[in-house]
Amino acid sequence: MERRTFGTTGLTVSVLGLGAGQVGADDVSDADAERLLHRALDLGVTLIDTARGYGRSEERIGRFLSGRRDEFVLSTKGGYGVDGVPDWTPECLRLGIERALRTLRTDVIDVFHLHSCPLDTLQRDDLLGALDAARDAGQVRVVAYSGENDALAWAVQSGRFGSVETSVNFADQWSARHVLPDAAARGLGVIAKRPLANAPWRHAERPVGQYVETYWVRAQALGLDPRALPWDEFALRFSAFQPGVSSVIAGTARVENLERNARALAAGPLPADLLAEVDAAWAREGQGWGGEV
Ligand SMILES: NC(=O)c1ccc[n+]([C@@H]2O[C@H](COP(=O)([O-])OP(=O)(O)OC[C@H]3O[C@@H](n4cnc5c(N)ncnc54)[C@H](OP(=O)(O)O)[C@@H]3O)[C@@H](O)[C@H]2O)c1
Repeated sequence: MERRTFGTTGLTVSVLGLGAGQVGADDVSDADAERLLHRALDLGVTLIDTARGYGRSEERIGRFLSGRRDEFVLSTKGGYGVDGVPDWTPECLRLGIERALRTLRTDVIDVFHLHSCPLDTLQRDDLLGALDAARDAGQVRVVAYSGENDALAWAVQSGRFGSVETSVNFADQWSARHVLPDAAARGLGVIAKRPLANAPWRHAERPVGQYVETYWVRAQALGLDPRALPWDEFALRFSAFQPGVSSVIAGTARVENLERNARALAAGPLPADLLAEVDAAWAREGQGWGGEV
């Protein structure tokens, strides 16, 4: 598994990370979650991304992987979800980080993100100060922002964050085109979320009201043809080799897909002619499309 430096943070991450949203779901059994998490590390995945809001994900990572904590970079997110404390307050961040450390059964969170707050929240000095304090106290190694569009651009140029997490896939190229060059030049680590574009090819009909719907509609408009490549491989190789991307956190609760994703990335970047087709389709259809939070 290819490893990459995570910006200038001093951390190193595998090109394939694990998006651990899915392993937090109630309909995934403890046994299946445990198997998936261990298989990820066994395959050489060294970045696991979770959040306060991902159901049982933080708790399962803590329970099942605390004995292998030195094998991976642990990324989580917060700013909300502490009982009795208003969201997006310094107190909520302080208590939320303490809570996450306990739940994740770790002494330090490698990457802690403000989770998709809007620009005016992101710019608040009291919140940024609370993050700096957690880093200075050794609870967090890298202070980060997860988000899109104007807030993401501000986060990168502010100098207050060591890394960012943002959508990067063939149907969501706003960040790759507008922010990642700046992020790379400034030495930020970049975690690419939704790298499979939520796998829209699995739906023959428009998945109305589902999470994947926006990308399904965009994929129809782009009309791409991965030719001989399976769609998952096409999608992941596109995302993982965008300039500036440190790691792609493909989300899955299924060992079979995790293994396919690891194999897909071993093939390297997409051929130049396929990339040119994606570029042309984007120029035709994608100019007005923003990043999906
Ligand atoms: N910061 C944020 O606000 C934010 C927002 C969205 C996501 N995220 C993070 O990013 C991660 C990934 O995002 P995502 O899950 O939304 O999108 P994604 O990784 O683009 O797509 C995940 C979907 O693709 C399926 N899948 C995975 N591997 C596959 C394969 N080889 N072939 C076919 N289908 C495959 C998964 O289903 P199966 O379970 O059936 O494999 C899942 O439904 C999340 O887990 C989370 O950590 C963060």
